[in-house]
Amino acid sequence: MESTDSRDAPVLAISGSIPELRQSLLKWYEQFGRNLPWRHTQDPYEIWVSEIMLQQTQVKTVVPYYQRWLVEFPSLEVLARADQQQVLKIWQGLGYYSRARNLHRAAQQILHQYGGKFPTDPAVVLKLIGIGRTTAGGILSAAFNQPLAILDGNVKRILARLVGLQDFPSKALPQLWQLSETLLDPKQPRDFNQALMDLGATVCTPRNPSCSSCPWVAHCQAFALNLQAVIPMREARSPLPHKLIGVAVIWNDQGQILIDKRRQEGLLGGLWEFPGGKLEPNETVVDCIHREIKEELGIEISVGERLITIDHAYTHFRVTLAVHHCRYISGQPQPLECDEIRWVWLDEIDQYPFPKANTQIIAALQQYASF
Ligand code: ADE
Repeated sequence: MESTDSRDAPVLAISGSIPELRQSLLKWYEQFGRNLPWRHTQDPYEIWVSEIMLQQTQVKTVVPYYQRWLVEFPSLEVLARADQQQVLKIWQGLGYYSRARNLHRAAQQILHQYGGKFPTDPAVVLKLIGIGRTTAGGILSAAFNQPLAILDGNVKRILARLVGLQDFPSKALPQLWQLSETLLDPKQPRDFNQALMDLGATVCTPRNPSCSSCPWVAHCQAFALNLQAVIPMREARSPLPHKLIGVAVIWNDQGQILIDKRRQEGLLGGLWEFPGGKLEPNETVVDCIHREIKEELGIEISVGERLITIDHAYTHFRVTLAVHHCRYISGQPQPLECDEIRWVWLDEIDQYPFPKANTQIIAALQQYASF
């Protein structure tokens, strides 16, 4: 059996002098660093928002969301006092909605416990919901120039290549953190961390890194061994589970549609959706929709023609949504498995935050209604 004893962990050695590595990276950053909106501010609230948006999303996707967010919620206090539905609406399309819910909750916590001032003590920042060690380091180094290291996916890749790590990064996290701390320039932690992120995003990329443009090429052990394509070693991913979902667009006699708000606790919590649920073994889509609507809302419907079928990949699973037009028949709709239900007009539906797969249903309905 393989040992997990930390004494067996790889020893990661840097080739070259640390001051020289710092100098060459900072010089590269001066010339090639990206001009990004959150680099023009030292307001911890604005930097915090950027770091949370950037956690699982690329810079080019984040920029317009970041700008809209700051127009809507220009300060921590405005965010804390906003309605959760408004927060989710601005986040709509960015995915991983727990990030938005957590930002909102943490802003309320900071307002009530710390007078609305973003804390500067790393131990306090780490206690805020949604902030782990690398996000805390990213915020406090950028906002206050605190000498705190970071270790996001980009930095793990750079460091794994620099020391020629012949193991999965997940098996060497303490050593990688140690490396990031050792390399960090204590005189310029803000610029050093931003430079590392840019190096990972623009030069030391996952595929086809531009090693000839890299300020660290002379010290890079992966490059010396021609192992850039293999390091960092990638862990095998299991295939995503696939769920088939029957979805109902339920119309009443006035021409309104029934939508429901998902429970806070679960996946996509607080967002609105068209009601429906998972097919059981050997069940038809039509039977599934009848059953789910009875279970979730306590009403009888008739299931009509198919509107659209949508395939969508979330991070941890894929869904196929089989969407049918349905007609309300009888019973008082009740929120039996959701937080709230509402009859809405098609032309007001855009005001509600929906998950990505559902926005395609709305587009199909708008096209259907325009005929
Ligand atoms: N990813 C996380 N934080 C970032 C930042 N400040 N700039 C660019 N990419 C990032």
